[in-house]
Amino acid sequence: MHRVTWAYQTLLRPLLFTTPPEWAHTQALNVGRFSARNPRLLRYYQNLAVPPDQSVCLLGKRVQTPVGVGGGFDKDAEIIPSLGSLGFGMVEVGSVTQKPYAGNPGVHLTRAKRQKGIVVNYGLKSAGAAVVYPRVAAAYLLPRPYLLGVNLAPSNDGSCTTSQQAARELAAGIGQFDAVCDYITLNLSCPNTACPQPFQDPLELPLLLRELPAISTPILVKLSPDLPQGVVSNLLHLLEREPRIHGVIWSNLTKLHKPAELSPTPGGLSGPLVLPHMLERLSWSRKQFGDRFTLIGCGGVQCQSDYEATRSAGADAVQVVTGLIYTGPLIVRELLGGTPKPHEVKKQDGH
Ligand SMILES: Cc1cc2nc3c(=O)[nH]c(=O)nc-3n(C[C@H](O)[C@H](O)[C@H](O)COP(=O)(O)O)c2cc1C
Repeated sequence: MHRVTWAYQTLLRPLLFTTPPEWAHTQALNVGRFSARNPRLLRYYQNLAVPPDQSVCLLGKRVQTPVGVGGGFDKDAEIIPSLGSLGFGMVEVGSVTQKPYAGNPGVHLTRAKRQKGIVVNYGLKSAGAAVVYPRVAAAYLLPRPYLLGVNLAPSNDGSCTTSQQAARELAAGIGQFDAVCDYITLNLSCPNTACPQPFQDPLELPLLLRELPAISTPILVKLSPDLPQGVVSNLLHLLEREPRIHGVIWSNLTKLHKPAELSPTPGGLSGPLVLPHMLERLSWSRKQFGDRFTLIGCGGVQCQSDYEATRSAGADAVQVVTGLIYTGPLIVRELLGGTPKPHEVKKQDGH
């Protein structure tokens, strides 16, 4: 363990955990905003955080590591260069919705400390696409050793009530961000919205696929770890036939595991309880569809053995969110430190 990680886990994290989680998240964003304006600080982070010789080719570009930061940490694209300096090979901002939304009423975040997770009830809080767009466009012009991804979701402010509207909103977002990012993620699986997420229903998904504009930017879809196997199979067979869909992110938050001590808290849970579901979906997808999809493993990856299990299950890359909080800001180094180069990681089933 790097000494900075040790200091974070021993001194700073216990202090942060005495504060409300949303406040702590805001402070992390403040540090990120400050750092983004200080190139010397970014270089310092970069030297600490990035293990040597871990670059990989992902979605057609060479990136510094196969570890990304998933949707939800930098919802409004405020700290992209700071996240890049922590060694991430993918920086995914969002979820971004067309209309701004302040988030669901009530508590947005609750720590599930024993489970090393967070119960999340933001409900697609977003500054809105018009505010986020210029920030993403500016970051896209920077020289970067990471992919810049935009995670899109239908607005949750009450204005988007039918599947048709949701499909049109996602299509509008794709058209808007196409020229200023390296990939687009369609978040089809937010567990905290007023209306259920329609496009995880194999009968509704074709409606979205028909609306997709003709773009060359790779599109990934992000699915729930709670979907029954039969539904997963039907969805992936539909996605397989759509050339604009390049990959799948397994997965979003779970609603199946609510820690008993937090039972009245609304929301979906992140962290290690998602990991076994994510691994199962990932290895099934790899076995079933070979190399058709770029597969990203996301859910509870917080240490090197989680990372290795996810790569062995067939992930081309791994994303983390909660690990930034429990493991610390040098999580990329902690996941990769001492591992063989990515192409030497043994994968199951010949992949
Ligand atoms: C605070 C927080 C906010 C999140 N917001 C989003 C979001 O806006 N869009 C999204 O696709 N996923 C969101 N997620 C889900 C994460 O991207 C990820 O799929 C999930 O937390 C599992 O990974 P983890 O255990 O590494 O956090 C959020 C997660 C957390 C913890």
